[in-house]
Amino acid sequence: MNIHVPRGTEDLLPDVTKKWQVIEEKLNHLAQVYNYKEIRTPIFERTELFQRSVGDTTDIVQKEMYTFEDRGGRSLTLRPEGTASVARAYVQHKIHGSPEQPTKLYYVGPMFRYERPQQGRTRQFTQFGIEAIGSASPAIDAEVMAFAMECYQTLGLKSLKLVLNSLGDQESREAHRNALIEHFKPVKDELCQDCQNRLEKNPLRLLDCKIDRDHEAMKTAPSILDYLNEPSAEYFEQVKKHLDAMQIPYVVDDTLVRGLDYYTHTAFEIMSEAEGFGSITTLSGGGRYNGLIEELGGPDISGIGFAFSMERLLMALDAEGVELDKDESVDCYVIAIGEEAKYASSKIVYQLRKQNIKVDQDYLDKKVKGQFKAADRLGATYAVIIGEEELNNGVANVKNLKTGDQKSVEIEKIADEIKTGF
Ligand code: HAM
Repeated sequence: MNIHVPRGTEDLLPDVTKKWQVIEEKLNHLAQVYNYKEIRTPIFERTELFQRSVGDTTDIVQKEMYTFEDRGGRSLTLRPEGTASVARAYVQHKIHGSPEQPTKLYYVGPMFRYERPQQGRTRQFTQFGIEAIGSASPAIDAEVMAFAMECYQTLGLKSLKLVLNSLGDQESREAHRNALIEHFKPVKDELCQDCQNRLEKNPLRLLDCKIDRDHEAMKTAPSILDYLNEPSAEYFEQVKKHLDAMQIPYVVDDTLVRGLDYYTHTAFEIMSEAEGFGSITTLSGGGRYNGLIEELGGPDISGIGFAFSMERLLMALDAEGVELDKDESVDCYVIAIGEEAKYASSKIVYQLRKQNIKVDQDYLDKKVKGQFKAADRLGATYAVIIGEEELNNGVANVKNLKTGDQKSVEIEKIADEIKTGF
């Protein structure tokens, strides 16, 4: 039997990778415009990192991690997300000591979650994300959301919705937590096993449950917004004011809790409203994490960020019919006629490439007609034709395939001729 990719993973063939390249180029540019610098962290980390940051009672840590023991008996995990690693690196390298604060970082790379594969949900997916660490200003919350929206807008997407909530500070969360426990206690037995287990430990997770989503008690659950203390409510107001100032539309949804434990204050998601996008409409998610850096052994410094997967971005582009075009045609194709000319062809191709000219030649012993066809298929503007007679005279025929014009050119001068164009 042939071997296929593991379930929940996929090969990206050149007709897809070319779209990725267009996207990555635009995102790299956008990161520069917003003054974020790239960070690359390992694909696996110590398991404890995710237990302590993403949270022991989350679905990600309880059910979805690819965890293994290495030959030295250490428990390692393929990263399920990027924030924990960035926060770890920030603490490990004492980046908080650098004068450039907040530290604004971005990353692109594969993440792994053992989830049930479906459209928009794979076991290996590629996240693009940013983290701004070292500022507790509501202005940077707004900047991160503006960046998140811009990622999609710069690619031409329009049917987007920014959904916003506040999870408050520690005190507000504690008050809400107690209210949630009181609310769900009477119906505990009607909830799924996970929810029953989480009720005392982390009741916020109940609001994120996929099984009990339609339970009556979910609809009447206490809203976090009613439990925000004065500073948290004020912080939320200021975040909204910054968004208003930038004229970025949003809707507040007090049921948005996110699936990771490190969030405080701002939490947000961007949804696609495009018809035919599919059942999972969340394109990206993020929020503020005020205790995370400290939890990982760093100072009491807060951060905010967001991430999305390239896979869901591509789905949104498809749903909205946005084409990403990249010119992959070659400038030139070298056509050799006869055995001896093949050596000259290799030489010419090599020389032209050194001059940055996109060029290719035949490796299948095709006849002249076949080589012209290949040149056409590759979109070549010029063909360089070299036969025995040209070889003897140290020249080649350079033909502009678009106009039909041709010239005899000294072999050493072909690059100049093509660069100048005729
Ligand atoms: P998250 O909501 O778990 O947040 O994931 C962010 C995004 O990653 C999702 O909105 C989705 O685009 C993509 N994603 C997640 N799981 C899958 C999957 N199985 N298949 C395809 N795409 C997926 C985080 O990961 C946080 N680290 C975001 C963040 C950064 N918060 C603060 N900073």
